[in-house]
Amino acid sequence: MYHAPLDLVKPESYGWAVARAHELGLLSADHTSALFVDLDILDQRLHHLEQVFPDTALHAIPVKTHPILSTLRYVVSQGYGLECASLEEVALALRAKCPSDKIVWDSPAKTQSEIDYVIQHAPGAIVNANSIDELNMYPQDHGLRLGLRILLMSATGAPKVFDVSASDSKFGEPITRRQQIIDCFLARPDLVGLHLHAGSDIGNIEKNATRVAAVYDLAIEINQARHLADLPPLDYIDIGGGAGVYLDGRESQGLASYSDRIRSECQLYSSSLQVITEFGRFTYGHCGWLWSRIASLRANTDDHRLAILHVGADALVREIYQPHAQRHSFIALDPHFKSATGSKQSYDLAGPLCFAGDVIEREVMLPALSHEHSVIICNAASNSLALWSRHCSRRMPAVIHYRRGMSCNLAKPAETLDDIIQSWS
Ligand SMILES: Cc1ncc(COP(=O)(O)O)c(C=O)c1O
Repeated sequence: MYHAPLDLVKPESYGWAVARAHELGLLSADHTSALFVDLDILDQRLHHLEQVFPDTALHAIPVKTHPILSTLRYVVSQGYGLECASLEEVALALRAKCPSDKIVWDSPAKTQSEIDYVIQHAPGAIVNANSIDELNMYPQDHGLRLGLRILLMSATGAPKVFDVSASDSKFGEPITRRQQIIDCFLARPDLVGLHLHAGSDIGNIEKNATRVAAVYDLAIEINQARHLADLPPLDYIDIGGGAGVYLDGRESQGLASYSDRIRSECQLYSSSLQVITEFGRFTYGHCGWLWSRIASLRANTDDHRLAILHVGADALVREIYQPHAQRHSFIALDPHFKSATGSKQSYDLAGPLCFAGDVIEREVMLPALSHEHSVIICNAASNSLALWSRHCSRRMPAVIHYRRGMSCNLAKPAETLDDIIQSWS
């Protein structure tokens, strides 16, 4: 299935949205930064999931990638589910009015009281146990769609910290314990699904189809054994997420070839098994951006210019703390929030936190900046505010939803000084 490259935020959107947010009073001079979410791009990514995967699939969008409640509400209002990595995220999903049968709970560290809570407050939720051992915590009459996460024991090529599929991983029951897994599915008719999430930011997601096919083979074997034992067949395979997208402005071809590859490697799509997906970075990677005023400009030497912004290692934890993390692209806005023009100069863009490593990017070529300019950090709605760091206790910026030329709304106000005092009290 051919798919044209997916859209990126239009360059003219940045200035429009920042100016509109000021006109509407959503941002004032007191606001030093904000996260903007382009709902048109978000829609396109969500629709893309529907286009390339089977009609019956449930797309559970990971809360951990972007937990802003207004955005979760929007995603849920469009019919999508939510994938939750903790009980706290389940609570957010319920607050976003996600129907409980569209909530997927994947925490690797569930407690008995958390499980009891989900049984009571999210009946029918899809819950993926991290191990055979964990299954002992579920009563027989739990009322959930209970599945088991499988560890494929083969590295994905994702960055080491995101590769959850290697043999030393803490996630899932090793597929090498095949017979124990099958015995477990025979002993527990309430187990109805298999789950695979191999890693995040997987460079070549098409290759993950081989892992999906391996889990599908396991499902077939379980179903054959269950058939002989007069037990009902499995009803879902959750293929997780993991698709990387470039954050530096390169476009995305989307997931059509990954889905094609799954179709060609196994019969999953023509089986009665429901497909569940959990794409985080793919959904949010391109649909939002951080805007920051310039806190300070300096040139320690004639050939080294530095701009200090109001977000840095607090909002971009992965980028700053991981030497090989993906890089963003940047745009400068002039004092009227139009794209800045003029001959370019090299700037190091530093964040506001009190350590030397808080540098978002070095040697970024931008038109000459003044204190009235501002800077856009492009493609920054995934795993940014979601990982917000309290180091230096700075206030988390406001979040704004917009559709260019149409609407601009406050999705979450900036934190106040009281919020910070409360959070440390
Ligand atoms: C179980 C699970 N599903 C889905 C995701 C989302 O991954 P990605 O953002 O790479 O699609 C994660 C990320 O950590 C995860 O742990």
